[in-house]
Amino acid sequence: MPVALHVVDHPLIADSLTRVRDVTTPNALFRQELERIGTLLIAEATKHLPTHGVRVTTPLTDAPGRVLSSQPVVVPVLRAGLGFLHAAQELLPNADVGFIGVARDENTHMPKPYVNKLPQRLDGRTCIVLDPMLATGGSLAHTCALLVERGATGTIIVVCVLAAPEGIALLEDAGLDLAVYTASLDERLNDSAFIVPGLGDAGDRQFGSPGQAE
Ligand code: PRP
Repeated sequence: MPVALHVVDHPLIADSLTRVRDVTTPNALFRQELERIGTLLIAEATKHLPTHGVRVTTPLTDAPGRVLSSQPVVVPVLRAGLGFLHAAQELLPNADVGFIGVARDENTHMPKPYVNKLPQRLDGRTCIVLDPMLATGGSLAHTCALLVERGATGTIIVVCVLAAPEGIALLEDAGLDLAVYTASLDERLNDSAFIVPGLGDAGDRQFGSPGQAE
């Protein structure tokens, strides 16, 4: 199934992306710029959410308005996806939030799940997955499969800063119905499955390097 890939071309995204790629950008600024990119990408990714008409009473008279027909479920993928959560909650203050924790094995590059805190049922809900990096696609394929297990149907929206062609191909092979919104489709993965040119490790650049669990 083809993944609908949207590379969002916006001068403010380009400006912030340049700073998040920059190896000299300190973690505090990295988090701010990442959140800015998240706000702009999420605004674009939600522009087709269904709305319905209502009447609203202004201080002067009645006027037509539109409101969201339903509230989406936002799913940050730990850890790096937390960098988009504040932006998502600013734009969608009434959305439910589910958490998925996946650590990529350094040697095999396969996803190792460690958290699953999703709403019990996702039938009829629009799901928006937040993960800044779409590298091999393993973490997102795992996450989206969990959403489908809970009843998610229709197109799952994915928001990432960078996507690699290899990851998009894996998600297409997985047969998932996805719309991916990204700031850049980068060139490729290196031998360590890092995105090139990339921005390094989005988790470490926000939160520092974790110690290894025994
Ligand atoms: C990174 C990144 C994605 C994942 C992408 O997370 O934040 O979640 O790898 O890689 P993939 O597409 O090959 O699965 P990581 O496992 O390093 O954990 P972290 O977010 O805690 O740093």
